[in-house]
Amino acid sequence: MTTPAILFVCLGNICRSPLAEAALRAQAQAAGIDILVDSAGTGDWHVGDAPDRRAQAVARRHGIDISGYAGRQVSAQDFRRFTHIFALDSDNLKNLRRIRPSDGTATLRLLMDMVPGREGSGVTDPYYGDDAGFDITWDDVSRAATAILKAI
Ligand code: 4NP
Repeated sequence: MTTPAILFVCLGNICRSPLAEAALRAQAQAAGIDILVDSAGTGDWHVGDAPDRRAQAVARRHGIDISGYAGRQVSAQDFRRFTHIFALDSDNLKNLRRIRPSDGTATLRLLMDMVPGREGSGVTDPYYGDDAGFDITWDDVSRAATAILKAI
């Protein structure tokens, strides 16, 4: 079996998708499961940027250092390199469907579709809100990470 390669995609790649990446990587490591994990944004405003300070802070509160992550924009090539691509919200999903190449092999899904009872919902963008929003983001992406590990 090929190693699962999972890509999380949000808008800026500085808040939600880096936290999803961190949560899944940490859970997989703790469980001894070998997977590749990455994240990207549909937009290009934060290419090369470290995650938002509030995202770094919530990860740190959970024992994870994401200060070395760097933002990047999703590309058509990602649909060939990854086995699974998860969109953090429905806008991200719509944009991913537009750039998906015809020879793309990755499955494409809304992230919260993995979590029973949360199907069809997006992970709320915490960027314009307060610090508490980042705790909600962490909670959502952690639940989704657990569900992903159960499913693969
Ligand atoms: P993210 O949050 O998509 O969760 O990384 C955002 C970060 C930056 C912007 C929007 C959303 N922005 O417009 O710069």
